[in-house]
Amino acid sequence: MDLSTGCSKIRTAVFISGTGSNLKSLIKFSKTIKSPISIEFIVSNNSKAKGLNYSKIYKIKKKILNFENKNLSEKKLLSVLKANNIEMICLAGFMKILSKNFIKKFKGKILNIHPSLLPKYKGLNTHQRAINNKEKYSGCTVHFVNARLDSGKIILQKKVKISKNETKASLAKKILVQEHKLYPKAILKAFNL
Ligand code: GRF
Repeated sequence: MDLSTGCSKIRTAVFISGTGSNLKSLIKFSKTIKSPISIEFIVSNNSKAKGLNYSKIYKIKKKILNFENKNLSEKKLLSVLKANNIEMICLAGFMKILSKNFIKKFKGKILNIHPSLLPKYKGLNTHQRAINNKEKYSGCTVHFVNARLDSGKIILQKKVKISKNETKASLAKKILVQEHKLYPKAILKAFNL
């Protein structure tokens, strides 16, 4: 990734909409010596997101923007990220689609985690669609974000076997465990570490 990894860590914001279990795993990773990133900011479009509790627990600044007016929310967001010297963004269960213009401002510096083996099952309801199609495997993918949904360059993937009688809930749970390991690994890979 095109960011200098001198002695200070890359100031990173994590965008969430819900539980924030990936956020938690990223915060834990960021506190290890080998991590090139430090989590300095949490952004949520949902004021009730459970993951916002990690802002209190780990004393990380947060910003809630409802994205009802995407243009306006993104404008505010860009200014708050700039004021906090944020250099990189990790999307982790963030349910809003960022505009081309926003993505351009952080070109090559936004990562996302998606619960499928991309390019299969872009978008929502991935687990049920994989089960319905009788896939033998699903999994998760960390990729760079570009202007097309779930289509940026893949950094790392992890396969997960779909068992007999698998439900979308059981599959989601199994994949989430792998997501928590994959995101930190993908960050290291993105920085050639
Ligand atoms: C994860 O499965 C992620 O891949 C998807 O949304 C879920 C978020 O989970 N985009 P959490 O909020 O990190 O617990």
